[in-house]
Amino acid sequence: MINTPFNYTGSKFKLLPQILPHFDYTKPDFIDLFTGGGSVYANVAAKYERVLSNDIIKDLVTTHKELLFNKDLFAAEVKSLCVDKENQAGYHILRDSYNAAKTPSKLFALMLCCTNNLMRFNKSFQFNQTFGRRTFNDSTQKKIDEFCAGLEAHKDKIKFESESFENIWSNNPRETFWYLDPPYASSEAGYNAYWSNSLEAKLLDYCLKIHEAGGTFALSGISGKHKDKGESPLITELTKRFNIVNINHDYKKVARNKDEVRGQEVLIKNY
Ligand SMILES: C[S@@+](CC[C@H](N)C(=O)[O-])C[C@H]1O[C@@H](n2cnc3c(N)ncnc32)[C@H](O)[C@@H]1O
Repeated sequence: MINTPFNYTGSKFKLLPQILPHFDYTKPDFIDLFTGGGSVYANVAAKYERVLSNDIIKDLVTTHKELLFNKDLFAAEVKSLCVDKENQAGYHILRDSYNAAKTPSKLFALMLCCTNNLMRFNKSFQFNQTFGRRTFNDSTQKKIDEFCAGLEAHKDKIKFESESFENIWSNNPRETFWYLDPPYASSEAGYNAYWSNSLEAKLLDYCLKIHEAGGTFALSGISGKHKDKGESPLITELTKRFNIVNINHDYKKVARNKDEVRGQEVLIKNY
């Protein structure tokens, strides 16, 4: 498996052995519509002729691209922006600088220095994660090198986009397989600032449009009541129409209030 240099909230890396066997490998085109840390497209790029990786966070998408196509210069720039482990004041200067003038290298530097390496934005899309007393180290360089080496043979077939998902479509929908890993409405992920009930409703329409067009999709989500929320209408509607695969993932391990957690991680597929 190819790991990515991001400790990304909601990363599917650990679930790949359960998810990837269910993918549709009969199609030549693959779209990873909510790429995040990229663990999914990175591990199936070898199996498709064309890959599209999309995420709404432009600096994150550009970071993927820079790592794959301009690794040494980009990594050197990020390293020079990272503050050392004791330099909280320097971290705040970097964070203010990012929020005033956003660049991919500043975002990646913040991700490497912040708490648990987990990026977080407020509703105005300002980066607001606290200082994590961590920085660019040998393990960061190793992860970058392994990610780039793993994708070296396939990177030229990967196209990157940064759009809200509803603006992404395939030129050849019948020949395309989509993997959809949207923010889970019941989670507290830092990128939930970008998500809303109306987008979830649009995502249901998007899934139905794929199905009507003869394409295939697999969507990750949580079925059942989770934390203090009821089941998401997206999951309720999709499970009425399509096939559901239970994925073994214990949310209690990471939950603050273990009694609230009852949801079941699922993969819903239209084939
Ligand atoms: C659960 S994460 C994806 C994790 C990814 N599969 C991985 O393994 O790292 C969901 C992603 O959706 C992105 N996102 C949120 N709203 C979006 C939108 N409207 N269109 C596209 N991407 C969006 C977030 O930035 C986040 O990276």
